[in-house]
Amino acid sequence: MNQDELKRVVARAAVTYVVPGSVLGVGTGSTADYFIDELAAFKGTIPGAVASSQRSAERLRKHGISVLDLNDVDDIPVYVDGADEITDRLHMIKGGGGALTREKIVAAVARRFVCIADESKLVPVLGSFPLPVEVVPMARAYVARELSRLGGQPKLREGFTTDNGNVILDVSGLNILDPAALEMSINNIAGVVTNGLFAQRGADVLLLGTASGVRTITHP
Ligand code: 5RP
Repeated sequence: MNQDELKRVVARAAVTYVVPGSVLGVGTGSTADYFIDELAAFKGTIPGAVASSQRSAERLRKHGISVLDLNDVDDIPVYVDGADEITDRLHMIKGGGGALTREKIVAAVARRFVCIADESKLVPVLGSFPLPVEVVPMARAYVARELSRLGGQPKLREGFTTDNGNVILDVSGLNILDPAALEMSINNIAGVVTNGLFAQRGADVLLLGTASGVRTITHP
């Protein structure tokens, strides 16, 4: 199976985690797109979904799935989303699609985070994938200097504006041995909206698409 087939297989497996009668959180990216397509057949079982991006909201609406405002929802039993990298402790790097801030917000509300990913995303240590950091535009140069002081090499994601009107710095070369501590340090830089480390609130379940089937890894 190629990478897209593995993504489709885990997307299908994630549908079994949907709680009938409850609002569902839906992430962003190609794996999340496959999940939305699989969800279409079950749309009658949920009142609607909270989307982590305009892109996913559009796809949900195209399938006739109601998109709800997070401010009108006080409980999300399950959030399903992909990742750019994930460890067996279920810490992640996210934000390759630029939706990290809304993803972090929906994940914070959700009681259970189900990560769906093909096996290429499972890594022993985070950091080969450049860490996305969403930044208020006027703070771009300052934040870039601070990220360099932390040992990273920040690069502006050219021609990209987030759903929140901000820019993204993709930071390579970081030594991410303590993801929760680094997540906090980067978020403390003035002008940073959030960064793509999901360690303080990682995933609860990982559905990993492998050549031999879907492997389920739960939080240790
Ligand atoms: C978007 C994300 C995605 O979950 C991440 O980029 C994985 O994407 P894909 O499923 O296309 O591999 O964090 O901001």
